[in-house]
Amino acid sequence: MRSLNLYGGEPLHGELTVQGSKNSVLPILAATLLSREPCEIHNCPDLLDVRAAFEILENLGCTVQYDGETAVVDPTAASRSVIPDELMRKMRSSVMFLGAMLGRFGRACISYPGGCELGARPIDIHLSALSRLGVELREDGGDIRCLLRRYLPQTVTLMFPSVGATENVMLLCAAIPGETLLIHPAREPEIVDLQNFLNCMGAEIRGAGSDCIRIRGSAQLHGCSYTVIPDRIAAATYACAAVACGGEVLLHKTEPGHLLMLLAVLRDMGVDVKEDEDQIRIISDGRPDAVPLVKTLPYPGFPTDMQPLLMAAVLKARGSIVFNETIFENRFKHVGEFLRMGADVRIEGMNAIVNGVRRLHGAKVQAADLRGGAALAIAGLSAEGKTTLGGVEHIERGYVAIDKALTELGAKVAWEP
Ligand code: EPU
Repeated sequence: MRSLNLYGGEPLHGELTVQGSKNSVLPILAATLLSREPCEIHNCPDLLDVRAAFEILENLGCTVQYDGETAVVDPTAASRSVIPDELMRKMRSSVMFLGAMLGRFGRACISYPGGCELGARPIDIHLSALSRLGVELREDGGDIRCLLRRYLPQTVTLMFPSVGATENVMLLCAAIPGETLLIHPAREPEIVDLQNFLNCMGAEIRGAGSDCIRIRGSAQLHGCSYTVIPDRIAAATYACAAVACGGEVLLHKTEPGHLLMLLAVLRDMGVDVKEDEDQIRIISDGRPDAVPLVKTLPYPGFPTDMQPLLMAAVLKARGSIVFNETIFENRFKHVGEFLRMGADVRIEGMNAIVNGVRRLHGAKVQAADLRGGAALAIAGLSAEGKTTLGGVEHIERGYVAIDKALTELGAKVAWEP
């Protein structure tokens, strides 16, 4: 268990280049399995979850080379279609390999995936979409055995626009000739990135980002070289840190178009937000104005991943803000830790009501999940005195060198010896 000490209460001043997107690169790494040639993935962030994806690829028989920026995956010799339970449990995105293994081998055996405990996180939408496409599913002592007997290209409708289920359908359908229409898919930028990557490999997919994706698969997917989009949640994290602490922060290599909701809400809070082509500048006095309600929704609504980050940014707001979480039933675990720092937040069912306070003070706090952990780092930097943040390994699943990134923004942080 690693702990980070944050010495807060000072404004942030600095510049940072935002890392590549975790939630894009993970399904893209799974997609490399569909090729019969090596694929080169640039802007591949060095994260615990990315290392876990490499381990799964290697376990399936691929070779992976990685220099901290570019991953070269050679899936030529891949032959196994089983992922052991201990690898499945390392992260939620292990479930993406289901669609990829079915596309490559026509069969797959997995167990239930791990990842942040944000609620029950079932995979029923994935499984029912795959079974509509002709996949036979059998549960056997915790294993899910899947066999693609006869591919049935057709129209598949998702009852909820699940990100992972959308990706699994795209991965399977991209590798098999035929045309499938996916209705009511997730519309996140990471879905568009997966579409673009699969098209680079020779698939024909249109419509990602809209209400309907048309997938024309190919049995001849080939290798390619691809650059992953910037991580919008990491960008949001550093933007929220600037809002919480005050000061001026410039983020390079971002895509402001992927952060429309957050930037709109920050502007409503009186934060000075300037956007350029691939830059975002945040100027804040550290005490944003309140807005009545922040409600999480599937993209392009306000992202659930940014809910803890924005909440940390408004603990010292002028007024009260209600956060209504509609995506994950257990995504307020950071609130109890905020209280240790002197925040005034009350949970009522799926709402958290923040009453802004003038001051926060440092405390010993514990990260319980990735974004909640990042939110505690933000709160720690806006609190006076020393905060010791434990459970940093949760944060390292999704942030490249969080200590260095915060230092570049002018924060004082040091690892607990
Ligand atoms: N759901 C079901 N059944 C399913 C699938 C999902 O009920 O078969 C429910 C989930 O339990 C949840 C909601 O639908 O309540 C949304 O789940 P979704 O499938 O959309 O999310 P995911 O694919 O598991 C991805 C991101 C999450 C992000 C969510 C929502 C990756 C690797 N993960 O998860 O990111 O919060 O979409 O946008 O892309 C993170 O990066 O910290 C993170 C948790």
